[in-house]
Amino acid sequence: MTVPDYVRHGLADSPETAIEDVPVTGVLPEWLEGSLLRNGPGSFQVGEQRYRHWFDGLAMLHRFTFAGGKVSYANRFLETRAYAAARDEGRIAYSEFATDPCRSLFARAMAVFDPQVTDSAKVNIARIADRFLALAETPIQVRFDPETLETVGVTRWDRSDFGRMTTVHPQIDDSRQEAINLVTRFGASSTYVLRHVDTSDPDHPRARDLATKRVGEPSYIHSFGMSERYLIVVEYPLVVNPLSLLLWLKPYIENFRWKPELGARFHVFDRETGARVRSVTTEAFFGFHHVNAFDDGGDVVVDIVGYDDASVIEAFYLHRLEEPDSSIPAGTLRRFRVPLVDSGDSPVEVETLSETPIELPSLDYARMNTRPDHHCVYGVSLTGERGFYDQLVKIDTRSRETSMWKEGGCYPGEGVFVGRPGRDAEDDGVVLSVVLEGARGTSFLLVLDAQTFTEVARAQLPHPVLLGYHGQFFGDVGTSAASVPPDQV
Ligand SMILES: [Fe+2]
Repeated sequence: MTVPDYVRHGLADSPETAIEDVPVTGVLPEWLEGSLLRNGPGSFQVGEQRYRHWFDGLAMLHRFTFAGGKVSYANRFLETRAYAAARDEGRIAYSEFATDPCRSLFARAMAVFDPQVTDSAKVNIARIADRFLALAETPIQVRFDPETLETVGVTRWDRSDFGRMTTVHPQIDDSRQEAINLVTRFGASSTYVLRHVDTSDPDHPRARDLATKRVGEPSYIHSFGMSERYLIVVEYPLVVNPLSLLLWLKPYIENFRWKPELGARFHVFDRETGARVRSVTTEAFFGFHHVNAFDDGGDVVVDIVGYDDASVIEAFYLHRLEEPDSSIPAGTLRRFRVPLVDSGDSPVEVETLSETPIELPSLDYARMNTRPDHHCVYGVSLTGERGFYDQLVKIDTRSRETSMWKEGGCYPGEGVFVGRPGRDAEDDGVVLSVVLEGARGTSFLLVLDAQTFTEVARAQLPHPVLLGYHGQFFGDVGTSAASVPPDQV
């Protein structure tokens, strides 16, 4: 069987390296100064063992820095317990999304008391209260130095790391000096908790439960929405009996069951008071990513990349991606209009904004999140029925126009928008994407003009960057994370 090149090079191993002056073709915008920090898997192989799923793997941070017309690059594994066990003992020692360590029956029984959930925080990056954090769905968030990529310490969204999961997409509003994330506390009585962090004093961020909601069978929730006034939690019908997580006989995600008869449930909470304003059920669907949400009269409008079911999770098992004719279900950008007043006959209206497949959606978050005039969504996409994400797209939700960028044999990662300072137009800037060249087994950083969606420059690396997930651009990484004492957020 011929393994597709995006698996051979993109789901393998990558070396730790640093390159001072990465060769650039094209012309970099003069105003583009700062660092793109990205997170993702750096290795899928540990000794004789291989991780099983795209969402597993050992966390590796990447930094592309633009300074003085040059690009430098560095990467580094996150120095976690999971990484230490892999490096020093050559074994997978902690439970990942879809991979469990080999355990004896006795060890499985002991896992009830200590499931040894991974600290390999490989999914996203955020800066909260001047701390640069590598984020995972466990509440263990790992702090790192944004310049050296060295691991600094551990921060938690919640006080205990047992029986809790969280999202890797906290909503951050610097104008209100707050960060909010969703934590699910599993137990005989499970609870969704919206954790609020007051960041007004960066040295002493204060966390509290803003809103809670009891739940019998918690849903797998990867992100949530925020408008000016509301927080929106969508419960997809991919749910788990908490007892099966307590027993932990299977890898984490395999304990969840698709129950479409439950429908999808929108819960809307007031951002100020935490009060639940509305809960309403609509037809079953699944999603990883909220894109944006905004208030519109008596409605809250919620944009999500939606799927008809949760089979996309199965499509990301490595054995599935290794198949020559593997395919990924296509997510589409869907708009849900949720009426906040229950008048009895006011269902959630659903509209597909574009039929173009999209995943890893992004926007000019700092400026446009929660705003009704937001209209530019960037993402990765699929050109055909088979294979992996092989093009970048921009969907204009106002004009409904779609722009594409693709190159033969190339697999672009998440597009990160960087705005030109002083811009008026929402898309006046560039989109940065790390692109895997399947045939050559190398990667480059692509710089696209966000308005025309054409290439302006690329910085060529001599090695592959594995297929990753999320990152962010920071114009200034001046605050050294190392100067902030370790604590619990
Ligand atoms: Fe995500």
